[in-house]
Amino acid sequence: MTEPSVFFDDAAAYEAFMGRWSRSAGTLFLDWIAPPKRARWLDIGCGTGVFTELIVDTAAPAAVFAVDPTAVQIEHARRQPVGQHADFQMGDSQALPFPDNTFDVVVSALVINFIPDRPKALAEMRRVGRAGGTVAGYVWDFAGERSPGSLLRIGLHEIGIAVADIPGAADSGLDALQSLFERAGLEQIANKAIDVTMPFASFDDLWRAQMQSFGPRGKAVAALSDADRARLIDKVRARLPAGPDGSVAYSARAHAIKARVPQ
Ligand SMILES: C[S@@+](CC[C@H](N)C(=O)[O-])C[C@H]1O[C@@H](n2cnc3c(N)ncnc32)[C@H](O)[C@@H]1O
Repeated sequence: MTEPSVFFDDAAAYEAFMGRWSRSAGTLFLDWIAPPKRARWLDIGCGTGVFTELIVDTAAPAAVFAVDPTAVQIEHARRQPVGQHADFQMGDSQALPFPDNTFDVVVSALVINFIPDRPKALAEMRRVGRAGGTVAGYVWDFAGERSPGSLLRIGLHEIGIAVADIPGAADSGLDALQSLFERAGLEQIANKAIDVTMPFASFDDLWRAQMQSFGPRGKAVAALSDADRARLIDKVRARLPAGPDGSVAYSARAHAIKARVPQ
């Protein structure tokens, strides 16, 4: 099983930085899918269970299964209240541990770009989806550098600090997702950009939240000298004009796609 620990080896850090973004974008994505009630769900790459919890709380599901290949994420999710309402298991999108034709809705929130063999994963999503069911997912617009982490990535670039590319970033565009779903033989495919604006009471509030950043970007920031950190703050602040009350807002963009499993 793939163990993508470089990015998702710290469940608490994921929650601290990404939780609010994942909840906001996930809510809009779920509304857009417009799923049936009493459905059987599979949430692929569930991580700490943020999106799984949205399914449980708002979609009136009959059953929810959730898989992730990263042990710390699954352990974290099982300890949350949602752990009482969803079946969390270790599992990889490229070899799903379920029989054919099992789920009414198969979703993957903020995951598809991270999967090494995306066509294989889409074939698996189609396989475990029942005929007439829904396969859907969304990812941050990494290709357009519009993710919640892009603010720091761009700032680091501007002060001359290299940060590793996000895996699969080039395939986070709507055209790439559309083509991936078409090649899986799915029907009635629709896609959509979802914009999420996150308000912060002050630049300092936003900065504290950005400092929770995880993965290679978080490590690059943690290693900065005081002088480089000050330069980074100046670069980031320059991109975010404050309102009269000192508040600032940052907008990220996600790309969503949904389709029907052929009869
Ligand atoms: C950005 S997190 C998304 C977590 C959650 N779905 C959310 O909306 O907050 C990406 C997740 O994808 C998982 N992942 C990475 N590669 C995967 C794969 N091959 N199959 C399934 N999940 C994978 C990671 O372990 C991580 O938990």
